[in-house]
Amino acid sequence: MGEYFFGLSEEQAILQDAARKFARSEILPRAAALDESADFPADLIRDAAKLGLQNLLMPGDLGGSELSSLAAVLVIEELAYACAGVTTSIVVNDLALLPILFGATPEQRKSFIEPIVSKQKLASFCLTEPGAGSDVAGMQSRLEKVDGGYTLNGAKQWITNGGKADQFTVFATLDPALKHKGICCVVVPSDAKGVSTGHHENKLGQRCSNTVSVHFENVFVPESALIGGEGSGFKLAMKTLDASRPMTAAIAVGIAQRAYDEAVAYAKERKQFGTPIAGFQAIQFMLADAITEIEAARLLTYRSSWVHDQGQRNSLESSMAKRFAADCAMKITTDAVQIFGGYGYTKEYPVEKLMRDAKLMQIYEGTSQIQRLVIARDILQ
Ligand code: CAA
Repeated sequence: MGEYFFGLSEEQAILQDAARKFARSEILPRAAALDESADFPADLIRDAAKLGLQNLLMPGDLGGSELSSLAAVLVIEELAYACAGVTTSIVVNDLALLPILFGATPEQRKSFIEPIVSKQKLASFCLTEPGAGSDVAGMQSRLEKVDGGYTLNGAKQWITNGGKADQFTVFATLDPALKHKGICCVVVPSDAKGVSTGHHENKLGQRCSNTVSVHFENVFVPESALIGGEGSGFKLAMKTLDASRPMTAAIAVGIAQRAYDEAVAYAKERKQFGTPIAGFQAIQFMLADAITEIEAARLLTYRSSWVHDQGQRNSLESSMAKRFAADCAMKITTDAVQIFGGYGYTKEYPVEKLMRDAKLMQIYEGTSQIQRLVIARDILQ
């Protein structure tokens, strides 16, 4: 894929178009029903995988699409335009497999990435705990050394696709007193003895993405499933989040663009005081701000991907992109509901769903406050 210099390469444009066609014809018509039922979109995820629209960053020799981060965010924005819940369900495979890609031996990659990707299975990223969300180093899930490996005990919370996954990438500590230096990354099959999952959370938005707790009770983890050596889990998790936050930012951009498009169409059609409301400056300024902010969020997202694609650390850029895009999506979807007025507050129109979906963007993969913390540390260090 070529670089982004304020325009897409032909290859990027073709990929974007393919993602757009799939999103608008297959996902979008089902988004409202999936929101209402909170049913898991297993068939859409499988179809996306078959088209190469899942496992975007995974290597080609392991069955992945091997896209650059920049190409991946183009795909993800298109998917999210149709439904953020479906998109989160699709994208989380990359999140779960990235620590393995970054830290594993070639044999481990073959064992833990290829079967998931080539057989269209699902994997989940198990980092957050009931008592440790923003504070990753405060996790309590324990690994205890035993003959041939470890015993894993603990609970993970808000695990996307957790109830549907075949494999978990789990972070746990050898000793909580060691803080980040004790954390390890291990791979656990979901049917291992001692693994169980909780109920699907009844969420405000992104309702069809499966969100559960995952419990590990005396689960045996062989040494061969330890990724990257003892104590390297925290940095693997941080590196993964750096790589994945541009993709999350792209979901926010997709939501915001959809809200903007819906608001423009409605403002041109809805008449008050004998004229379309798009003629009123109060509406015009909201739309002008929205499209400016969407473009800024998109450029920050592209740049955070581009820095990653140059092989450089992009913690600063990805936190800026994720923070800005998430906050924009919240504001723009809220303004879209305002433009729709009473109609926007009902499920007859898509904007209230977009507003509910947008809220999660400010919370998962690091809250907007955590992104500011990462940015502040970077600029002040
Ligand atoms: N890359 C590489 N190394 C990094 C790093 C990075 N991005 N960030 C930190 N490190 C290193 C530091 O250099 C330091 O290394 P040394 O020990 O060698 O000095 C070490 O890691 C510890 O770093 P900090 O002191 O900065 O760690 P901290 O405990 O103060 O916290 C934090 C850092 C940034 C707040 C971190 O806890 C964090 O990112 N929290 C947010 C967690 C998050 O985003 N969770 C989302 C869960 S996933 C999800 O939501 C997905 C979903 O469901 C869809």
